[in-house]
This record gives sequence, structure tokens and C-alpha cells, in this order.
Amino acid sequence: MTTQISSLEEYQQLYKESTSDPEGFWGKQANTFTWFSPFDKVCEWNFEEPRVKWFLNGKTNITYNCLDRHIATKGDQTAILWEPNDPNAAVQTYTYKELLAAVNKCANALKEMGIGKGDRVIFYMPMTPELAIGTLACARIGAIHSVVFAGFSAKALADRVNDATAKMIICSDYNQRGSKNIPVKQVVDDALALGCPSIETVLVHQNTGGDINFNETLDKWWHDVVDAQSDQCEPEQMDSEDMLFILYTSGSTGKPKGVVHTCGGYMVYTCFSFRNVFQYKEGDVYWCTADIGWITGHSYIVYGPLLAGATTMMFEGVPTFPDAGRFWAICEKHKVNQFYTAPTAIRALMAKGDEWPAKYDLSSLKVLGSVGEPINEEAWNWYNEHIGKGNAPIVDTWWQTETGGIMITPLPGVTDTKPTYASYPMPGIQPVLVDKDGNELAGNNVEGLLCIKHPWPSMLRTVYGDHKRCQNVYFSAFKNMYFTGDGARKDEEGRIRVIGRVDDVINVSGHRMGTAEVENAINEHPNVVESAVVGYPHDIKGQGIYAYIISQGKDLDDAFRKEILGVVTEEIGPIAKPDKIQFVSGLPKTRSGKIMRRILRKIASNDTSNLGDVSTLLNPDIVEEIMEGAKG
Ligand code: WTA
Repeated sequence: MTTQISSLEEYQQLYKESTSDPEGFWGKQANTFTWFSPFDKVCEWNFEEPRVKWFLNGKTNITYNCLDRHIATKGDQTAILWEPNDPNAAVQTYTYKELLAAVNKCANALKEMGIGKGDRVIFYMPMTPELAIGTLACARIGAIHSVVFAGFSAKALADRVNDATAKMIICSDYNQRGSKNIPVKQVVDDALALGCPSIETVLVHQNTGGDINFNETLDKWWHDVVDAQSDQCEPEQMDSEDMLFILYTSGSTGKPKGVVHTCGGYMVYTCFSFRNVFQYKEGDVYWCTADIGWITGHSYIVYGPLLAGATTMMFEGVPTFPDAGRFWAICEKHKVNQFYTAPTAIRALMAKGDEWPAKYDLSSLKVLGSVGEPINEEAWNWYNEHIGKGNAPIVDTWWQTETGGIMITPLPGVTDTKPTYASYPMPGIQPVLVDKDGNELAGNNVEGLLCIKHPWPSMLRTVYGDHKRCQNVYFSAFKNMYFTGDGARKDEEGRIRVIGRVDDVINVSGHRMGTAEVENAINEHPNVVESAVVGYPHDIKGQGIYAYIISQGKDLDDAFRKEILGVVTEEIGPIAKPDKIQFVSGLPKTRSGKIMRRILRKIASNDTSNLGDVSTLLNPDIVEEIMEGAKG
């Protein structure tokens, strides 16, 4: 097993070692895994192209390390513990032995249906065990999985299928979320109707048993093709740098990018970070509430915990069903030891009142985690007092889809914690703050742009099908550094606080969205001439979506607003619906025609005391009009 740090001295020592001799440090961690043939070099890199390789020429399979490796010592221990949406329905458990058998059956079925090494398989599924089993089955045979969050629209799904030229979609019939029953297979059918020529098969898991349109040529039932397979399947020998998965995420321009992660480095880093950030001990029950449709679910529901031989819980439902005590009821029911969630969920549950957590015995909790967006002080304090009872350190973990694993975080019981501070870099991670010209801001008490200096094993390798974009977005802003897109500050003692995005990416309830993407969706409405979208502070969601819209030939009423929300839901999904729409006659533009978003952001945030210089605008008068309109 990778090193588990247990004291401050050890952290400081390891940190030093990991930065003075990264190859020695990561080589040692990597050698704790099973390699079918050993790597001959630890790291090779060049941020110009970029070209990053870890554990060169090593051959392994991440599922061997997640499953087979644990069979001898913990074959009968629970690997996945599944809590269904309905609190009265049966919990399901898979021991390591059972999970291996289930993964092998699914892997054999995939092979039988013509899926092989390098083929892309899209998942569009709720949080059922089959989602974890299916992704692991892909990894077993070297197929590349790409999970699309099941809240995305048919259009968004089709875009991802086509970008990845996937051969197969794996979905469920329906998805139960709270009191809703969502027709998942219907969305897949709608996506196919938009045109997905690469798709050869749709594999449908029967989740609720509701009626679906069954297409005899494309569709196959999971139970027909998977259940009868052999439970033995040799793991494919994967090169360390072979692709493991693609995960689409939003950037500041254009369509979502397919972030590519590879087998060896991702394996080493997710296991190492999981064991340290959560201080997982034998027999603990660990629960991350994220959806596997996001990176948090990939790294810290599936891969990290299973690599570490942990018991990982998956929850199908939502925090407020059947009531606002559900998370705490589950913590009590399963005696959860490590609990990892998002600030938006904490704020939403905090708003429901202290009486909800007070009803449950939360004494099993040892570590509380936060991820996805900055956590405000009030939410941090509430989490600490009402959930952790002051006994469970909060790990405010900063990272990104692109980083693959947690980068900056306190280590519970090892380093200190401070509200709203992600605090300290993980061993092997070298964060730096720079000014806009790329000059490093040395020392403490500074604020700047967050970059990372040296490669780490789980960093993205490319953007699927568009390596140039990978270089432009992450490696061209500053020489020899990975640019995160976030702004951050350091306190007097060097703890890091991540403030938020400095680009046109917004973070709504922990969901990453490009303002350009939302604008493109809004612009699909025939009566919209132009739009500009910005984020603004929102009590529960962190950021809300504010849309300024220029329209023509339509009454500016609620019916029109509804139509716009409908278009956004269709193009992206309900998570991208604007919270506020303001109709305007123009947008503030520079003489070169660029929208001055800075001004729009200030107006949306109701912070117009200092708008800065507007005299350079092409149309300075519009600012006054928009400010007036914002009041109404
Ligand atoms: C933000 C989620 C402050 C940040 C794992 C980052 C955070 C983006 C934190 C990545 C945190 C994530 N404190 N901000 N602890 N964690 N972020 O790709 O802006 O969905 O760039 O990955 O979320 O979002 P993503």
C-alpha cells in the first residue's frame, strides 16, 4: 500500500522528499502496486507540448489493483455498500470477491458485444452499483469509459457521444431521484435520434422495470447479456500511459473538453491521496455523496477507495428525500466514518435547521470532507459544530477534473485546519501563485493566479481529439507551469485559500459551467439576438446564473422567460438554467466589440459602487440602463 502519513513531522519530511526527488518519491509509491511488467522510468515531461508520461513502459491493470489484489486478504469484506433512493428498499452489498465476479461478467459481455481495447463506451446512468461495475468492466478490458452525468440533456449526451465516437451507450431504463422517476432510456433514444452514427449497441440496465421503447437492432438488456457470462476474465495488460477514461468538463470557451486520464499515474495518485486525505483505516465505512458523473465520483467513490481496499458507499438518492435528515440518517444507519460532500449540500441542509442532524447519532464520523467550490465560513462552522461536533477535522479539498486527484487540502489529524482554507499541498504537488505576467509571488500574504509547477502522476494528458486545446488552455498562459484557472491567496503562514475562477467558468452548486456554453444555448431561441451570462453570489448554490438578453419580436414576459429556460434545458440540462434573466437593449462593449463582462458581473452581484472606467466603451450609456433594469 502507498504511504499513509501519520504525523506533521512525517508530512513535512515527505513533502521535502517529494519535491527534491519526485522520481524517487513516486517510484516508491508506484512500486506498492502490482505491475505485470515493471516501469523502466518514473517520469518524463515537457510542458511546452505538453508531453507528460509516468511510470514509462510499465504494464498493469487498474482493476487488478482495485480487486484481484485484495481477494486473498479481504475477499469477504464489503467493497461497495449501496443505499437506494427509497429508504425502505433493500441495501445492496458487494464483497471484494462478488465485485470482482460482477466486473468480470460485465467485461465478458462487453467483449462478446464487440468492445475491445481502446473503444469508447459512454455511461448515462443513475447511481446504481452497475455504474461502478460497468466502468470497472471497461477498465478490465482496456475500453475507455466516459460517464455523462444523467442530468444532462439528450443534445448534450449526443455531443459527447459524437466527440468520443463511442461504440456503445450503457444506460438504465429509469432513474429514481427523490420522488422523481426520470426516463433515462428515453433521453438516450432522443440523443440517438439527433444522430450518433458511431453507436452500435445500447446496453440497458433494468433499474425500475418501467416501460421503455426497446429497439430490437440496437438495444440489449443487461440481464440478458451479462448475467450468463463467466465470472473469470483475464485483465488486459495496459500500458501505464494507455487511456483509462475521458471525462467531459466545461471551459471558458467552446464546447466541453474531453479530459483524458491514463492508467498508471491516475492509479498511483488516487490511492495515495485517498488514504491520506481521509486517513482511511481498516474496517471504516467511507461515503462520498458525489455522482460518478463527475470527477469526484471517479476518483473518490470508485478508484481511490477500491485501490485502497476500502468499503465505499454509493447513494442513489438526494439529500432531501424523504426529508432533510436523509444524509444524517444514512450516516447513523451505516456508521459512516468519513463523509465527503459539497458546500452547496451543506448550505442547503444548514438552511433546513439544526434539528435535522440533531436527531441522529453521528458519533461514528471521524473526517468530514468538502469539495467542488469554495466553502464559506458559515457553512464550515456549521459543518464542524453540527455534523462533526468539533471532533471531526474538515478537509477542504481543492482539485479539478484535470488534476485527477486532490491537490491542496489539510490532512486530518496531521496538519491544522482553518475555515475556508484548503491549506496545504499534498506531497508531490508544487503550487505557486503568480501575477498576470507569470512572475512568481514569493513569500506569504500574497494573492495571485494559482499554477502548478512540476507534473504529478494523475494530471490530464490531453483533451480528447484536440491536443492543441490542451496546450492553449492549460500550458500557454505561463511558461513551464500548469495554469488552473483559479485565483488564490496565501495567509501569513502560507496556507492557501482558493478564491474561485478567474476565467469565464462559473461554479453552480459545485457544477462547472462555461458561460459561453449557456449563452450558446440561450441564443438557440429564435427571438434572442444576443446574450451575456455571468455568475453572481448565491446563498445556497455558491454561484447563480445571471443572463442578460437582447431580444426581438417578442413580449418580455414570463412566458418568454419560460421558453428560454426550456431551450437551455434542452441544449444542456436543467442544471444550466439561469436563475435570473434581464432583458436589455444592448450590452456594454469595448471598441473592438468584446463584451465587458466585468461590468455585467458587478451589476449582477449588486455591487455597483465602483464600476471602474466605462469611458472606453463603445456604448457607455447602456450601463446606466442595465443598472436601472437590474433593480426592477
Ligand atoms: C473549484 C471538482 C475552492 C475550483 C473536483 C476548481 C474549489 C473547480 C474547491 C474544479 C475547493 C473545487 N475550494 N474551489 N475546495 N474544489 N473548486 O473540475 O474553481 O468539477 O477550478 O472538479 O472547482 O471543478 P471540477
